[in-house]
Amino acid sequence: MSGLFLSFEGGEASGKSVQAQRLAERLMAEGRAVVAVREPGSTPVGERVRDIVLHAQEIPLGANAQALLYSTARAQLVRDVIRPALAAGKVVIVDRFYDSTLAYQGYGHGADLAQLRAVTDFAVGDTRPDRTLLLDLPLDAAEQRAATRKPGRAWDRFEAEARAFHERVREGYLRLAAAEPRRFAVIKADRDIDAVAADVWREVEALLPATTLTPP
Ligand code: TMP
Repeated sequence: MSGLFLSFEGGEASGKSVQAQRLAERLMAEGRAVVAVREPGSTPVGERVRDIVLHAQEIPLGANAQALLYSTARAQLVRDVIRPALAAGKVVIVDRFYDSTLAYQGYGHGADLAQLRAVTDFAVGDTRPDRTLLLDLPLDAAEQRAATRKPGRAWDRFEAEARAFHERVREGYLRLAAAEPRRFAVIKADRDIDAVAADVWREVEALLPATTLTPP
């Protein structure tokens, strides 16, 4: 594989979607070939899974079932989008990847981590991020941001969870990052967008291979 694979991770309201978009725009402005996707989503099955797992209030889902649904979406995204893009030498940016399953279903809901890793191996094979940008936001800041979001947003299975759940997710992410310090960059997210974007850029810039430049 000759491209570059980057994933963004973080809790609710950490700003990772904005940062993923900013990074994609900056890379494209430099003439890089970029594919930016979100999880779950970005394939037909991924978008269906997103609806069920996030917004279908009438459908009960245990942690293991959630993990399998996310992994279904992930397997298809890897096969149809991520692998071909990396093979073509592009920069692939994912807004969430398998660390979300470990943090939310594993640390958050208590699903068995070793089993979640086995499911993840099955879903992604050796397609692993080169670098993972973890936007770390203290819970108080996350709650303040969430309170200013638009009223009338669709019900969300995860935003509806109690604070203790989100504390476990945050703690889980920090443990994952500590266990793989070469892959993870932990970025403080309780700052303004430009300051966070500058840190993201510093992490990514050094990794950019010449292959990701689009030919003139
Ligand atoms: P977001 O893209 O707006 O962050 O929404 C995705 C939600 O889905 C978020 O609450 C985290 C959750 N999620 C998991 O619980 N496990 C996963 O594997 C993924 C990809 C997302």
